[in-house]
Amino acid sequence: MKNNNLNLSDLRQPNTIAMAGANNYNENSGQQYLAMGASLPLLEGLEFGLNATFVDYGCSQGAASVAVMQHLVARLRPHSVATLVFNDLPSNDFDSLIKLLPKIRPTEPTAKIYPCIIPSSFYNSVMPPDSVDLGFALSSIHWMRQMPEPKLDTQSFEEYLRVREIHNLAAAHKDLVEFLDLRGQEIKQGGKLIVAVPCPCVDDNDGRITGNGKLRRALFRGMEILISQGRLPTNATARILPPTHVHTEQSFLAALNETKTAWKIEKVYSRVIPHQAYPAMLEAQNKTQDPEIKKIHGKEYASKMVDFISAVFKPFMQAWWIEQGLDREISEQVFLECAELAKIDFVNGGGVNYPVAQDYPHRAFDSYSLTEGYSQNFMVATSGFESSYCIA
Ligand SMILES: C[S@@+](CC[C@H](N)C(=O)[O-])C[C@H]1O[C@@H](n2cnc3c(N)ncnc32)[C@H](O)[C@@H]1O
Repeated sequence: MKNNNLNLSDLRQPNTIAMAGANNYNENSGQQYLAMGASLPLLEGLEFGLNATFVDYGCSQGAASVAVMQHLVARLRPHSVATLVFNDLPSNDFDSLIKLLPKIRPTEPTAKIYPCIIPSSFYNSVMPPDSVDLGFALSSIHWMRQMPEPKLDTQSFEEYLRVREIHNLAAAHKDLVEFLDLRGQEIKQGGKLIVAVPCPCVDDNDGRITGNGKLRRALFRGMEILISQGRLPTNATARILPPTHVHTEQSFLAALNETKTAWKIEKVYSRVIPHQAYPAMLEAQNKTQDPEIKKIHGKEYASKMVDFISAVFKPFMQAWWIEQGLDREISEQVFLECAELAKIDFVNGGGVNYPVAQDYPHRAFDSYSLTEGYSQNFMVATSGFESSYCIA
């Protein structure tokens, strides 16, 4: 296996890695699907002209995207046409998305739709100027443009996370300003942008505890065991965290204030989105007195949670392992073993006693009017895996 003499300037490269392919993300993104559902109220009252363009920035394999597009095309007027644009990184599994496209059907029989795919980073311009009526980005704009720096051998994991967070704060701010500037050029005056994005969980501060940390730790423990067995390179955990940054409401607004284009935020609300597997496990466990059967349901929950996190982490883990010299086929096998170890750790570490994210009542923020003479209305629905807010 390659000995890793890291040259950080070489490694700061744009992220090109998408979600786990072969429909895996679609099958394991139930929580993101709920976040999508939580943003649907933001579509209420929207009306479109006879020739409308809708763009999903970061559509992935389409489960959530197609559902939103269906809501939009259901509003089309008689004899109208709509272009439905699905954007994601070129490495995205667009095949799985394509299979879902026939599900989108206008309710109005004389309306016509034209789905198309634009494989490109949303940190580039995706659409021509002033061409988009409604853009949406669900669980996607917390993805940064560049890969994070890898962890150095000399750093403890805590040190690494601290340094990474400092770097991410600046980089994610720049990225968000850029994203909003680009969308500001593409979205027509009076057009809308809907965003759903994770925001920080107030985990533990108010007595609510989630299993989120335990889930991530379980995955790392799986890797550590495999490293200790010589199955993975010693630095196998060094660059496997996806390039994401969770914005606070303040940091989101700070980026908005810096955009060249002007936006008006119309609505914002926050919601914690719990993974549906947790209440499902509790319900199943409540139906039995048998502790062994309760344990089985706990294991099923652990399995779903590890599959859920893997749908996002796996491509980053494998890409890094392969870069470090692991054979691609072996990386598949080792990944499966790692996931199995993580499932066991999540159970043994008590992760099954907590929801991955938690529910609390919908919290409505005040409406903001940021600028005068704005050229677009800004609709943001931020919701997510941990806690969330929506602006519309
Ligand atoms: C967590 S998934 C969300 C997918 C989907 N919107 C949903 O709600 O389930 C994030 C998506 O953003 C995409 N993405 C990340 N960075 C991107 C970029 N720079 N340009 C376009 N898409 C990007 C990823 O490839 C991935 O498909």
